[in-house]
Amino acid sequence: MTIKSINAQEILDSRGNPTVAVVLRLADGTEVFSAVPSGASTGIYEALELRDEDNGRYLGKGVLKAVANINDVIAPKLVGMDVTKQAEIDQMMLDLDGTKGKSKLGANAILAISMACVKAAALSKKMPLYAYIAELFGNSTEEFTMPIPMSNVLNGGKHALGGADMQEFMIFPVGAPSIVEAVRWNAEIFHNLGKLLKKRGFQQTVGDEGGYAPKLDSNEAPLDLILEAIAAAGYKAGEQICIALDPASSEFYADGLYDLKMEGRKLNSQEMVELYKVWTQKYPIVSIEDGLSQDDWDGFAMMEKEIGSKVQIMGDDLFVTNPERIQTGIEKNAANSVLIKLNQIGSVSETIAAIKLAQSAGWTCIVSHRSGETEDAFIADFVVGAGTGQIKTGSMCRSERVAKYNRLMMIERELGSKAKMASFPYKR
Ligand code: PGA
Ligand code: ZN
Repeated sequence: MTIKSINAQEILDSRGNPTVAVVLRLADGTEVFSAVPSGASTGIYEALELRDEDNGRYLGKGVLKAVANINDVIAPKLVGMDVTKQAEIDQMMLDLDGTKGKSKLGANAILAISMACVKAAALSKKMPLYAYIAELFGNSTEEFTMPIPMSNVLNGGKHALGGADMQEFMIFPVGAPSIVEAVRWNAEIFHNLGKLLKKRGFQQTVGDEGGYAPKLDSNEAPLDLILEAIAAAGYKAGEQICIALDPASSEFYADGLYDLKMEGRKLNSQEMVELYKVWTQKYPIVSIEDGLSQDDWDGFAMMEKEIGSKVQIMGDDLFVTNPERIQTGIEKNAANSVLIKLNQIGSVSETIAAIKLAQSAGWTCIVSHRSGETEDAFIADFVVGAGTGQIKTGSMCRSERVAKYNRLMMIERELGSKAKMASFPYKR
C-alpha cells in the first residue's frame, strides 16, 4: 500500500517541551499518528535531536526545523512508496540525511516517520501492531513474550533535582505471572511507598518519570525505602520483586571521578564497582544500567567481570542503541545488556539491527521510554513484537507512562494463551 501524504507538526511532550508528531496517510485511507520522545540525561553519542535554537520560541526548544525537514524534504521523496518496505524507507531517509549522527534532518524528524510507517503498514494489513513488528524482526507470531516492567518509583539525578545523585530506583517484578499482575504489583508497591513517605514527613511530589522524589540523605536510603514498601504491599523482595538501578552516572562523572554530592565523596571506577558489589550483596539488585560513565569502557569491563555473572550490566549512554558501539562493547566484554531507545539511533530498522546484534552475543535488551514522553505507546507494541522480555517505562502514574502499561495489559488480554510472560534472567 502506498504512502499518500505525510504531515509533520510541533506538539508538546510530558515536560511541556516541543516535539515532533507526524500524521501519515495511505492511499487506502489508513491514517496514523506518531510522536517522538525526548531525553534529559542524554548520552553524548546519541543521534542529533534537531531543535531550532531560536530563543524567541519555547526557549530555543522549538522543532519547526525538524517539522519543515519532514514536510519539505522527506515527505516528497516518500510519497508514492510502498509503506511495507520499512528497510528501504529508513535507508532512503538515512541517504537523504547523509550524516553519521542524523545532524542534517534530525533524528526526531526521521524517527517520527519511521514509526508512522510501521503503524500504517500494520493497520493497512489489518494486523495488530505488535504482530507486524514481530514480522519485521522475523519472530514467530504464534506466541509472544510479554515484558517484565522495570518501574522507576524513586527518581533522582537530572529527573528530580534535590533527590539522590543516582537517577532511577526501580522495582522489577521478576516473579509476576503476567503483565496484568506485574502492573498491579508495581502499582501497589508504588502506593505503599507513597504512604511510607507521607508517614515520615517527606514530600510526595513526583519527578519526570512519575517516581517520588524525596530529599533523602544518601544514595542508599531509597533502597531501604523500597524494601519497606515491597514488604508493606505484601510481596517478597528478592523472590517476587527485585530491584533495578539506573544511576545514569555519566551525569555525575568528571575528570575520572564519580561525584556523589549528597554524600560528599568522590569515587573512582574501581570504588564505584566495589560500591555496587556491596549493594548487590545487601539488596536484591539484579540489574544496573549506566553504573559507570559513557566513556568508561574499562570500568564497565571491570564491573562485568566482578558482578556480571549475577547482575544484568546494562549500557544506555554507553551504547546509545548504536550497533557500532554495541559491537565495541561485545569485543571489550563491557556489559551483558543494552537499553534500547529508538530515538537514540533514530530509525526502526537501525533499532532492530542493534537488538539483533546484542542478542547475537547472548545479551539482553530492555526497550525504554525517555524522560520526556508523549501519549504515543509505540514502545509497548515494539517490545512485544521484539520479544526482548523487559521494558522500562517509568512509574505507576502520569498518563504518558501509564499509557504504555495500559497498552501492554490490553495486548496480553487480546493474546490470551498466545502471551507468555518473560522470565528473568531472560535469554533469547
Ligand atoms: P533520559 O533518561 O530519557 O532523560 O535520557 C532515561 C535514562 O537515562 O534511562
Ligand atoms: Zn539510563
